[in-house]
Amino acid sequence: RIAYVNGHYGPLSEASVHIEDRGYQFSDGIYEVVALRNGRLSNEEGHLDRLERSLKELRIAMPMHRRALQHVMRELVRKNKATNALVYIQVTRGVARRDHPFPKDAVPSIVLTCRTLPKPSPKALAEGVAVISQPDIRWGRRDIKSISLLPNILAKQAAREAGAYEAWLVETDGTVTEGSSTNAWILTKDGVLVTRPRSTSILPGITRGQVLKLAQEAQIRLEERPFTLEEAKEAKEAFMSSASALVLPITKIDGQPVGEGIPGPLAKRLRELYETYLA
Ligand code: PDD
Repeated sequence: RIAYVNGHYGPLSEASVHIEDRGYQFSDGIYEVVALRNGRLSNEEGHLDRLERSLKELRIAMPMHRRALQHVMRELVRKNKATNALVYIQVTRGVARRDHPFPKDAVPSIVLTCRTLPKPSPKALAEGVAVISQPDIRWGRRDIKSISLLPNILAKQAAREAGAYEAWLVETDGTVTEGSSTNAWILTKDGVLVTRPRSTSILPGITRGQVLKLAQEAQIRLEERPFTLEEAKEAKEAFMSSASALVLPITKIDGQPVGEGIPGPLAKRLRELYETYLA
């Protein structure tokens, strides 16, 4: 396995950055995860747009031109002889003596890895997966894909310990924001597809954006609005979206079956539409 670190390709096992990198000390950085499927990077431009936006919001300079980064991604894929993989990109503010304000002349650090694509198992796809709810204790800028992921990690771990696949994060007002690493969707009792609108409360998932487009094209009744955990528990269907899970049906929320307790037709259809779009 080969990794890329600040201009050099080398064995992943030896790849490292300095202990005073601000990513290590402050989580002062951002990341992207791009799926490679059948040798193609899925939604590459969307992921790079979001990467540039995250950097801009944190006032970290792009460590290289976009075209150069696209070249590095391809080189890394080639060197790893990968056809299905997850390309991970992380950019931090760079190495400097530990002090909170932005350092004057730090050079951003950039690292890329190319790792196996975690796919939902055939069983997960056939039967759907369980989610549990957890309070959303994250910061106010969840639209930035920051490497600061402690609340997400704690929520995902709580899900694993409860035998669930994902945790749905719930605001103090009772609405679901998103999953710990996925966006959240329901098909309401009345047959409307609902997902939370873009705001600083959620990460604007690239998969979410594409699924919205596909649903619009298919003339599926659709509303972008917040929904409560209660509404989700009474929904006909629920599912999540992300670069690695694509569209994954949810059949249990906090131990209660969703709808019939089996993957619903809309989730299946949207997954198929998405797979066709990617093919
Ligand atoms: N997670 N919401 C959160 C909080 C996420 O971390 C992610 C992505 C998503 C889905 O976004 P997209 O469709 O662009 O993958 C939603 C990545 C995959 C991760 O942290 O590994």
